[in-house]
Amino acid sequence: MSTIAPSPNPPAEPAPGAKKFLHALRGGLQKVPPIWLMRQAGRYLPEYREVRASCDGFLDLCFTPDKACEVTLQPIRRYGFDAAILFSDILVVPWALGQGVRFVEGEGPKLDALACDADLASLADPTKAGEALAAVCETVSKLSAALPKETALIGFAGAPWTVATYMIEGGSSRDFVKAKHWALARPESFGRLIDLIVEATVSYLSAQIAAGAEAIQLFDSWAGALDAGSFERWVTAPNRAIAERLRAHHPTIPIIGFPRAAGMNLYGFIEGAGVDAVSLDQMAPLPLIRHTVQPKLPVQGNLDPVALLTGGAALDAAIDAIMENLSGGPFVFNLGHGIMKETPPEHVTRLVERVRAL
Ligand code: CP3
Repeated sequence: MSTIAPSPNPPAEPAPGAKKFLHALRGGLQKVPPIWLMRQAGRYLPEYREVRASCDGFLDLCFTPDKACEVTLQPIRRYGFDAAILFSDILVVPWALGQGVRFVEGEGPKLDALACDADLASLADPTKAGEALAAVCETVSKLSAALPKETALIGFAGAPWTVATYMIEGGSSRDFVKAKHWALARPESFGRLIDLIVEATVSYLSAQIAAGAEAIQLFDSWAGALDAGSFERWVTAPNRAIAERLRAHHPTIPIIGFPRAAGMNLYGFIEGAGVDAVSLDQMAPLPLIRHTVQPKLPVQGNLDPVALLTGGAALDAAIDAIMENLSGGPFVFNLGHGIMKETPPEHVTRLVERVRAL
């Protein structure tokens, strides 16, 4: 159960000095919604590419606090977003569990895939994940000191199903056959893997919160691959397990769920995942979000990253449709998925100006 349900008479504007992003997650309304973008730090920015080129691989960037802090701040300086998201990756959790993880230029992530039940025994103690990722938590502390006072700091992790797909497939996948097959053929050992990821994620996120993260987002990017029964078991229940365990120690931390491409399973997620807000992909239809989701939870989303890539009148129309439908309730403007690396940075300027001018 969410502890931060939208109040029936939400305050109209944040109190002076309060952060717009956190206000929205607590159910507050505001004329101009807060805005940040998934993957706002990344290869579409020349200043990111410059720092990235100075690193010995992508994980080196994630594990070097000064550089990770710098690339997190780059989009805040350029666009003045209302929230910064820690620069790291969801695949640092498999790394902390002792799995081989590397990022191959032009090919994406590669992991030494788990192939059988016995491979689970080779993974490291999940309760030590926070310690293993101390470098990332140092980035959080640095950010907490460096960010403008109005900018909120988001910590994050992958949700267990999505992380498990990478651990089993050994990288990105189109159909997730290996992971789904394991879950169907050997649900007990698949459940042990999910529990292990839950444990590691709780350890890691607790350390991020202790270091200064003010809200948490759980990325379940591949939630849409599962049938309804599997969705409840491997998406909704593990998200809830993490939310409950974090709240036991940090009762006021807002948690955003992102069950991407959930379709109709979104409704079970909202009821059962225990999150305070939900981030929606661009496939979610605006009137349905407005009438059936937003009355229950603050929403974040859901501009198509391709509209941002396209720019011009198509971008303006997509922004206006989202604002018309969602700005009357608790809302955080965002994309439906991460920003694409081909996106011209000026399109992001146009987006921020338009959202703030309407
Ligand atoms: O600005 C931010 O949003 C914070 C940083 C962030 C990254 N990855 C940086 C990154 C966040 C929140 C993530 C999450 C992430 N990583 C997800 C969930 C969100 C989603 O996009 O669905 C997933 C599935 C991953 C796994 C991952 N990491 C993949 C598939 C790739 C390769 C992508 C590609 O296009 O090559 C990455 C690498 C990655 N993570 C990059 C960045 C900026 C690009 C790598 C580089 O700079 O060389």
